[in-house]
Amino acid sequence: MGKSFFKTRVILFLTALLLCSMAGLSNAEDELNCVLCHKHRGLSRIDENGNLRLFYINEHMFEEGPHFRVKCIDCHQDIAKIPHDPAKKVDCTTECHLTEPSGQKNFSHKSVAEQLNKSVHGKFDTEGKEKKNVQDFPGCKDCHEEPLYRPLSFFKGKAGGISQRGISRCKTCHRTGKFAESFYKHVTSRLQKTRQPVEMVQVCDRCHSDKDLQQRHNLDDVVNTYKETFHYKAIKFGSDETPDCLDCHVVKGESVHFIEGRNSPTAANNNKNVATTCRTSECHDKASENLAGYRVHVTYDKDKYPFLHYMMMFFTGLMAAVMYFFLVLIILELLRRLFPNFSFTKSPDDGHH
Ligand code: HEC
Ligand code: HEC
Ligand code: HEC
Ligand code: HEC
Ligand code: HEC
Ligand code: HEC
Repeated sequence: MGKSFFKTRVILFLTALLLCSMAGLSNAEDELNCVLCHKHRGLSRIDENGNLRLFYINEHMFEEGPHFRVKCIDCHQDIAKIPHDPAKKVDCTTECHLTEPSGQKNFSHKSVAEQLNKSVHGKFDTEGKEKKNVQDFPGCKDCHEEPLYRPLSFFKGKAGGISQRGISRCKTCHRTGKFAESFYKHVTSRLQKTRQPVEMVQVCDRCHSDKDLQQRHNLDDVVNTYKETFHYKAIKFGSDETPDCLDCHVVKGESVHFIEGRNSPTAANNNKNVATTCRTSECHDKASENLAGYRVHVTYDKDKYPFLHYMMMFFTGLMAAVMYFFLVLIILELLRRLFPNFSFTKSPDDGHH
């Protein structure tokens, strides 16, 4: 293994040199340099564990994605020479060269990290100590792994003004299409959910369906129980008006990253706040306080919820009993109709004809 690993590295190195000389470029400062090599689909190697690692960057997807104005080295700050040393993991809270216009400061995602750290998903407790089982808590890339790339057609027809026709209006005055298109998308893509509700559930699913994780953190099987509800079934039938995880777990107007534990008095799903959470203009605007008693994640775990467990057993039993009773009745009825003259005892006039 070691030998072939060495060989692939040599081949890659030679390819890199060849590509460099072909392009006549040799420093990593020029941002275009990166794509020059990385646009090649074959750029990959087998790592120490025998897994294939792909270093190919789809230029088109990068251009269409949210980071298209960020230079490669703004994020990959440790890439300084070619061939490079093994890259460090990118820190999503690094400052980049863009300035956010309203604050005139170098832009970074630090504010997101602050919200996340305060939330139930934060890796540190209030005293700054690492929480138990810290590896279970999500980092940025756990939830944002798949590219947020969305062609504009994705939004087409879903909300007023979000369409190619909308862009064509900008182009009346802004002659370079790219300028109008990027700002148009920048705003319109944020006027609605980026992910479809089904995809949203998948983001939370990867941890919250993990049985071991549930046990380590004493959590219920929330994803499967949610999937049993009318809300999710409606989503599966294409509704985007029924709630996914975020609609119920983020207080309206708060950052989506600030999800709190149920015991926190300000949590969207704290008993005191459930009615308010349901009572939005899009959902149950006239809901009464009683709605707070409605359980979303109904778990029939015998040890945790014995009452629900035995209720469930009772009703399952009752339903089975009723079903079988009528089934037997129907079969008997059917037999009588098929054989109207059948009898177990010989009828008195048997043998007379
Ligand atoms: C001359 C071609 C070339 C150029 C230019 C180039 N790369 Fe690479 N890059 C490679 C090759 C080849 C590999 C695979 C290296 C290996 O096998 O260790 C690689 C690997 C990487 C990796 C993964 C490294 C790891 O070990 O995890 C990153 C990240 C990366 N490049 C970023 C960049 C960035 C950012 C730039 C521009 C500043 C850039 N590259 C410019 C050829 C190039
Ligand atoms: C907004 C930040 C950002 C920008 C801009 C960016 N990358 Fe990345 N890149 C990442 C992250 C995050 C990863 C995932 C690996 C990690 O966590 O470091 C990654 C992974 C990679 C990898 C695979 C490395 C591996 O370990 O498998 C390569 C190669 C790469 N990027 C090259 C580029 C090139 C070339 C550009 C410019 C066209 C670019 N990146 C622009 C954030 C960025
Ligand atoms: C528990 C999952 C989760 C974690 C962890 C997480 N995010 Fe998010 N993030 C989301 C969701 C969900 C959205 C809402 C956007 C959507 O609908 O996809 C979002 C939205 C965003 C947005 C706004 C996107 C837009 O254009 O509207 C940014 C920026 C962002 N996250 C950055 C980060 C960074 C940086 C981190 C790490 C410090 C992080 N996120 C960690 C789930 C997460
Ligand atoms: C009737 C002509 C017209 C139309 C249509 C138009 N714009 Fe503009 N836009 C301008 C003018 C003129 C300016 C510069 C004057 C100003 O700053 O108020 C401008 C400024 C901007 C700026 C600020 C640029 C900066 O660097 O400060 C953005 C962003 C922008 N327009 C985006 C759009 C988008 C997106 C659309 C389509 C939804 C659009 N515009 C439609 C005329 C137009
Ligand atoms: C990387 C794994 C991971 C992902 C992804 C994740 N979570 Fe969590 N979540 C956890 C862990 C671990 C806890 C338990 C925290 C603790 O022990 O304090 C938790 C706790 C919670 C709680 C608090 C439970 C309570 O009342 O105590 C809620 C609500 C929650 N997550 C919702 C979500 C939602 C919604 C998503 C999707 C946007 C999501 N989580 C994605 C790992 C994850
Ligand atoms: C209709 C609103 C609603 C939706 C949708 C929803 N939840 Fe909940 N969630 C609640 C309420 C209310 C509670 C409090 C306990 C209960 O009612 O079951 C709760 C409790 C939780 C808990 C704490 C469970 C425990 O062990 O104490 C977690 C974790 C959680 N939800 C995650 C999720 C995830 C992940 C999704 C998406 C798959 C989701 N929720 C969808 C309303 C919702």
